[in-house]
Amino acid sequence: MANITSILKEDRRFEPPRAFAERAHVGDLAAYHAAYRESLEAPDEFWGRIANAFRWTKPWTEVLDWSAAPFARWFVGGETNITDNCLDRHLATARRDKIAILWEGEPGDVRVFTYAELHREVCRFANALTRLGITKGDTIVLYMPMVPELAIAMLAAARIGATHSVIFGGFSATAVRDRVNDCGAKIIVTADGGYRRGQVVPLKAAVDEALLAGCPTVERVVVLSRTKTETAWVTGRDVHWADAVAGVSTDCAPVAVDSEHPLFVLYTSGTTGKPKGVVHTTGGYMVGTAYTSKLVFDLRDDDVYWCMADIGWVTGHSYVVYGPLANGATTFMYEGAPNFPEPDRFWKMIAKHRVSIFYTAPTAIRAFMRWGDAWPSQHDLSSLRLLGTVGEPINPEAWIWYRQKIGGERCPIVDTWWQTETGAIMISPLPGATPTKPGSATLPLPGIVPEVVDKDGHAVPDGSGGFLVIRRPWPSMLRTIHGDPERYQKQYWSQIAGAYFTGDGARCDADGYFWIMGRIDDVINVAGHRLGTMEIESALVAHPAVAEAAVVGRPDELKGQGIVAFVTLCAGRSVSQSNGAAQKMADELKSHVAKEIGAIARPDEIRFTDALPKTRSGKIMRRLLGDIAANRGTTGDTTTLEDLSVLAKLREQDEE
Ligand code: WT7
Repeated sequence: MANITSILKEDRRFEPPRAFAERAHVGDLAAYHAAYRESLEAPDEFWGRIANAFRWTKPWTEVLDWSAAPFARWFVGGETNITDNCLDRHLATARRDKIAILWEGEPGDVRVFTYAELHREVCRFANALTRLGITKGDTIVLYMPMVPELAIAMLAAARIGATHSVIFGGFSATAVRDRVNDCGAKIIVTADGGYRRGQVVPLKAAVDEALLAGCPTVERVVVLSRTKTETAWVTGRDVHWADAVAGVSTDCAPVAVDSEHPLFVLYTSGTTGKPKGVVHTTGGYMVGTAYTSKLVFDLRDDDVYWCMADIGWVTGHSYVVYGPLANGATTFMYEGAPNFPEPDRFWKMIAKHRVSIFYTAPTAIRAFMRWGDAWPSQHDLSSLRLLGTVGEPINPEAWIWYRQKIGGERCPIVDTWWQTETGAIMISPLPGATPTKPGSATLPLPGIVPEVVDKDGHAVPDGSGGFLVIRRPWPSMLRTIHGDPERYQKQYWSQIAGAYFTGDGARCDADGYFWIMGRIDDVINVAGHRLGTMEIESALVAHPAVAEAAVVGRPDELKGQGIVAFVTLCAGRSVSQSNGAAQKMADELKSHVAKEIGAIARPDEIRFTDALPKTRSGKIMRRLLGDIAANRGTTGDTTTLEDLSVLAKLREQDEE
């Protein structure tokens, strides 16, 4: 599988197909350059014009207030409601009876909501939330499977000015508790369970466990019946979704909120043990996701658009729900696993629903490759016209396979670079305009000013690696870390003076194309999901047998990175390799991490060691451990104390 070196050696170039370019919103590179130039020279006019396409109940007076940088205010003084723009705005047009959400459950059940129907369901649940005591300024947590009700609940919250925080259904009860307590949610909306690979994933049970452990702000739990599984019930606290909506009106006027009113908090991993609540607000996020959806996915009224991300991640927020709906698009949602009942489930659904735009992650593409070409080749994929990827660098082999086997060599590929914090796509080809190079996210979108710099903030020459920063604020940028503005300032705006620090390494080629090389901080990217090494370490040391732990990523053919944990056990808990005790302890620790954080954080390997290599100042030498985990530059068994301390001593000087 390709590594960074082979990514950078990839020099094929693909022009936008003529047939695509002729009908595209941005049809050639000159049009892109013109928009880019305008966005830099006259940003207020540029963003103001885009924002004017939306409905504002009170117009803004200023496009950007950056006087309290890095705390931005976009569309200052404006008032709007994002659901008015995603739903009501379309009702007076032909889109009224167009499909807004097309959904397929894992068992094969299909549900369809037109814009008029979605509007009605959102109003109904908004009224239900109001009846349960939620008002503007409150926060609700959503912990749900990928069912239409998840999108409905998000939109319902936004409709009445409540802030939502979606927690990915794969996270554990402990993770739910921590997030609920950090955001102070009054209500949790969940389901009995969801379907995944033919099994029921219990959700309500995890909520019960979280609440038992202590979530003092939670007053009510709304439970959708999805899998018809029995769950424990707390009378007075728990309410069935069906009962919550019973008898409520389907009229609910959208509550106008300030442009900077918080739309959602989404937790993501950082470089400390504690996940951070990324805060996105209303006006700028709406403008940013709508604009980028239209340009990057070249959305048209006859598209069936499918972003396969779970709504529990930012990709699902921006490109399953808000971006497509703001454009009046048909957004397809699927509940379950890609290989259930067989590895051709996705291709079957693309053929069945005539999906025209498909957006997925490199890790999924590599899994499809491994499952074999026979699966996609059995299906009619001719409805597809555009493919996208996101989440991690894509290796050229996977890119080429995607283009040939899924795109029939006819579909452009958009490799979109962005982050939870950026809210919307930042660097990506425009499919009708930008020639693509496999492995490169290509050029910045209009309004976005990325740069590759050294540690002093100076631009590095073309072809050299450096830190990826963003030089100017943009509408969908995060506004703060919930409850921790200092961390926001320190983490993102202090590492390189005056610039937003992405945490990614990158290089730029002579054409100005960006090649993202991955995280340069203590964050690893496992199957397109971000995990903090410190977070996993904290989970490990919470186990009574563990004295110290250091977690590093190592290259993984399928997942991009795998997780390796180096662990020292407490005195008296040491395990011998010979009698299987080490294996047993390793399994126990893996399950422990899965329980503390979620299955995505389960280490692939645990290595026991008597000591961790540290610098004289006590810093764990992760780079060294990373080399060992990846079998780079070391030979034989390097897990013993002797090997580590010898290596540590050798490396000590250049670490300090
Ligand atoms: C990190 C953000 C927002 C998308 C889902 C992940 C990596 C994302 C790409 C890409 C190379 C990418 C970066 C980034 N990443 N897209 N096209 N090429 N790397 O969101 O969990 O906030 O993670 O994902 O390392 O910093 P996230």
